[in-house]
Amino acid sequence: MQLLKTVEGLHCYLVRLRAAPAAQTVGLVPTMGALHQGHASLIQRARQDNDQVVVSIFVNPLQFGPGEDLDQYPRTLSEDLRQCHDLGVDAVFAPTAAVLYGDSLEAGVTQVVPPPAMTACLCGRFRPGHFTGVATVVTKLLNLVQPDRAYFGQKDAQQLAILQQLVRDLNIASQIVPCPTVREADGLAVSSRNRYLSPQERQQATVLYQGLQAAAQRFQQGECQGQVLIDTVQAVLATVPAVRPQYVELVHPQTLTPLWQIDTVGLLAVAAHVGQTRLIDNWWLRSR
Ligand code: PAJ
Repeated sequence: MQLLKTVEGLHCYLVRLRAAPAAQTVGLVPTMGALHQGHASLIQRARQDNDQVVVSIFVNPLQFGPGEDLDQYPRTLSEDLRQCHDLGVDAVFAPTAAVLYGDSLEAGVTQVVPPPAMTACLCGRFRPGHFTGVATVVTKLLNLVQPDRAYFGQKDAQQLAILQQLVRDLNIASQIVPCPTVREADGLAVSSRNRYLSPQERQQATVLYQGLQAAAQRFQQGECQGQVLIDTVQAVLATVPAVRPQYVELVHPQTLTPLWQIDTVGLLAVAAHVGQTRLIDNWWLRSR
């Protein structure tokens, strides 16, 4: 496995690859490191689909707002490299901010702005500029690596929808491959931020999943009204006062427009603070 820390190093690896006698397909898994089972599932899927797997590890300053956890965000490169090696990754691209943005970050860089309608809801309402930061860094990574496929988790459903729109709108040739959310045994979605939780908060955090499950059950019993499904989640969340909901919303999973009722498919999404930690989760509701 190769560790590439510069754009030149990455180019060198890709040039050699593309000069190989047999065409090599490339899968890219963009991450911010602190790798866990969720990331591993993306890497495994990429390993199945492609000849070469590139994992990027970069804590992107552009997608963190003031007062967010950029400085605290876990950085565990040597452990991440060990996991990538064990998962059969071919190359890890782990640049510094200076490598990716030069010294232009302070002065301002060209950014990729997703459609306002896709950032007016869910996390976009509470994290201004976040998805512009995500869209910008993912555009750079797709331009640099030019993978056949790039893998993203449904855990971050708004990010996934925005990136699918991005590759359509900017005619980027890579295919975006959505991957299912990996959960702990008690349902909590695996996340790098779970390591901020105290044992008690870790226990309380399962209520996000329980709320979504309660709504999914009502939906299966025939309830299609958005407000009723949202209220169902809210009622379960309210049983644990230490969990402070930021939003519970029902939107269309591709366009992210709010849904008043579900005709075919809806994305029920929740964000909540547990102590200082902000957690998100979602569930697809689909009529059979
Ligand atoms: P990060 O939070 O490290 O996540 C990297 C990828 O792993 C994302 O596509 C995310 O949706 C996926 N992922 C995280 N938890 C998951 C889980 N429990 N199950 C399945 N997939 C999961 O998302 C980012 O980084 C960044 O915004 C990035 C896209 C790298 C741009 O900086």
